[in-house]
Amino acid sequence: MNYQKPKGTVDILPGESEKWQFIENKAREVFNLYHFKELRTPIFEHFEVIVRSVGESTDIVSKEMYDFYDKGNRHVTLRPEGTAALVRSYVENKLYGPEHPQPFKAYYIGPMFRYERPQAGRLRQFHQIGVEAIGTKSPATDVETIAMALDFFQQLGITHTKLVINSLGNVESRSRYREALIAYLTKVEDQLSPDSLRRLHQNPLRVLDSKAPEDQTIVEKAPSILAYLDEESKTFFDEVKKLLNNLSIPYEIDHRMVRGLDYYNHTVFEIMSDAPGFNHVLTTICAGGRYDGLIGEFGGPDERDTGFGFALGIERLLIAIEAEGEELTTSQSIDVYVSCFSHEESSVALRIAQIARHAGLIAEQEIQYRKLKAQLRTANRLGAKFVVFIGEEEIQSNKITVKIMKTGEEKRVPCEELQNFFEEMKEV
Ligand code: HAM
Repeated sequence: MNYQKPKGTVDILPGESEKWQFIENKAREVFNLYHFKELRTPIFEHFEVIVRSVGESTDIVSKEMYDFYDKGNRHVTLRPEGTAALVRSYVENKLYGPEHPQPFKAYYIGPMFRYERPQAGRLRQFHQIGVEAIGTKSPATDVETIAMALDFFQQLGITHTKLVINSLGNVESRSRYREALIAYLTKVEDQLSPDSLRRLHQNPLRVLDSKAPEDQTIVEKAPSILAYLDEESKTFFDEVKKLLNNLSIPYEIDHRMVRGLDYYNHTVFEIMSDAPGFNHVLTTICAGGRYDGLIGEFGGPDERDTGFGFALGIERLLIAIEAEGEELTTSQSIDVYVSCFSHEESSVALRIAQIARHAGLIAEQEIQYRKLKAQLRTANRLGAKFVVFIGEEEIQSNKITVKIMKTGEEKRVPCEELQNFFEEMKEV
């Protein structure tokens, strides 16, 4: 039978997986500087965890969930995103307690699942790097976290970035705006696209995201959410802008950017790339915002009911790196190739390869006992810096021959000195 991977998934093969490791390591390195710790949640959650937080009328919940009933008849779903799971974990494990640093700052790296129509940069199993800072309602948290995302991109050579921010205000401001938007859209509902018409009463803010040509003028003329912010929301947003200026971080405000998840309020943001490879068309590579109220939904304490975070897709990040014209250098080469020609020599070769590995060198040994020429060809193809020869003479004299491939020089090294020799060679 001819099996193939499920639609919308990819195998990340050697050659590519090194790039993933590089990105993941860089994320850990940068996030550590901001004192974020890793938190790993299961890849499936109770269906309710996602519905309660992401929102019933969102595309994610209404169309894209990988949900099913398990053998115990529990309704579970593969996680479509990480915020809900992390907040669930924060409350369940009482991470708001005094023994934990506050705000509680955590990151996650792993697969997410959405039943979407696959296309470039959009998959059914994709991978997010996400962060959440929970427990303090300070605009400094928003700005610190945005700065961290920008630092991370900078470190990966992604420089054609644009930060776009908006405020959805607090719950009251947002719901006043919702009413105003419904009133406006209802007046022109006969001109709306079928998708927007459906969203009008379910999730009217999403109409602002519409890409349908017939919606464009309507969206352009729609009231701005910024005009509906109450004093508290306005002050918070002003403070965020002031702190971004304070760090000399340029930004643009887009009052139509509302994001597709229900839990957001106050600051929302996207980092977009207009790298040459995207023909300077803006592409979102990272998105997030504030979600005051979500911790309370899960039963967390009022005084910690506030959070801010973002997530980015690794697949899209790789496309953005390519669009920058950057090449992630991933070394595939080995250090030592241990040549041998017989079953007897093979056991010596294995011991030598182990010594090299324990000295921190990447080692391979010949296992087919091929002719010398073929072995050297393999060593060269693997980029070996050193080839070790163990012939009869070497075994008798207890000295092996190491050929330094770059110079062609050969050295005879007593077996007992091999570990030291390899350790010195590591620096070469
Ligand atoms: P989101 O905008 O739904 O936000 O997703 C964040 C990022 O995940 C997107 O910008 C994109 O890079 C990537 N992404 C989403 N769907 C796909 C897909 N089907 N294929 C490939 N990549 C995809 C969230 O998930 C929020 N949890 C972010 C957040 C964290 N907000 C606060 N904290």
